[in-house]
Amino acid sequence: MLSVRNVSFSYDNGSRALNDVSLDIDRGEFVCIVGHNGSGKSTLAKMFNGLLLPTEGSVTVDGMDTADDEKMLDIRRLVGIVFQNPDNQIVTTVVREDVAFGPENLGVPPDIMAVRVDEALKAVGMESYAESAPHMLSGGQKQRIAIAGMLAMEPQVLILDEATAMLDPMGRRDILNIVRELNKQKGITVVMITQYMEEAVGTDRMIVMNDGSIVMEGTPAKVFARGDELRAIGLDVPPAVELRELLKQMDVADCGDAMTLQELSASICRSLLKN
Ligand SMILES: Nc1ncnc2c1ncn2[C@@H]1O[C@H](COP(=O)(O)OP(=O)(O)OP(=O)(O)O)[C@@H](O)[C@H]1O
Ligand SMILES: [Mg+2]
Repeated sequence: MLSVRNVSFSYDNGSRALNDVSLDIDRGEFVCIVGHNGSGKSTLAKMFNGLLLPTEGSVTVDGMDTADDEKMLDIRRLVGIVFQNPDNQIVTTVVREDVAFGPENLGVPPDIMAVRVDEALKAVGMESYAESAPHMLSGGQKQRIAIAGMLAMEPQVLILDEATAMLDPMGRRDILNIVRELNKQKGITVVMITQYMEEAVGTDRMIVMNDGSIVMEGTPAKVFARGDELRAIGLDVPPAVELRELLKQMDVADCGDAMTLQELSASICRSLLKN
């Protein structure tokens, strides 16, 4: 679905943000990208729908080259991006109009639009706020509206660039659940950039970036088994993984590849029963 081939990118000031990055993302995959501040995650995210074009290399979306001007509108229809700050993504004064803004620009006819807006609001649990003023909503609610705006365009790929970063734990969990649901139920391909390592648990694949390059790639279980390497590039492991490492170091219990507190406690209970 998304193919990044030997992409390098430098900003106008000469700052090199991506360095020979290659990456393929399959239709229906749920991929998580992590990396320390400035490692190139957002730059890569903007490559996925042509907001930025590679300085070297190429990016294709469903076979369409993002550098091809004639494909730009089709690519924007296919790939929706939700950013970190919900306030920057609100453009109108009524929720319903805000959700309709994107598809309107893509030329979706009004009658089809009304149905799509209703469905999108329902998918994010915000149908009762259709006539509300977006600026009166909480951060989490605004972020749901931003996601609904993307859904109304019926994208095949949803990119979330630290879309939960400004939310409280509950708001974060809600958004994560909505995104998981969209991936599982509607088969939408998801690329989620996050600084919360525990959000990567349960995704199909993790991509770890460092200084503009991909330095690790694999299932969350595989990546989190390399805790020391992650810490060496300024990252962390989820709390349950850290605890699991300590328990193993202290020779208390070997909890395998437990990544959540639930898995960890089940594993500890089992080993206690054995002894
Ligand atoms: N508009 C810009 N102009 C010049 N340099 C930029 C610009 N945006 C990003 N950079 C530089 O490119 C590099 C990668 O930035 P990018 O925003 O892609 O990183 P990131 O991984 O998303 O970081 P963060 O976790 O802080 O969001 C950094 O060195 C950054 O300073
Ligand atoms: Mg970023």
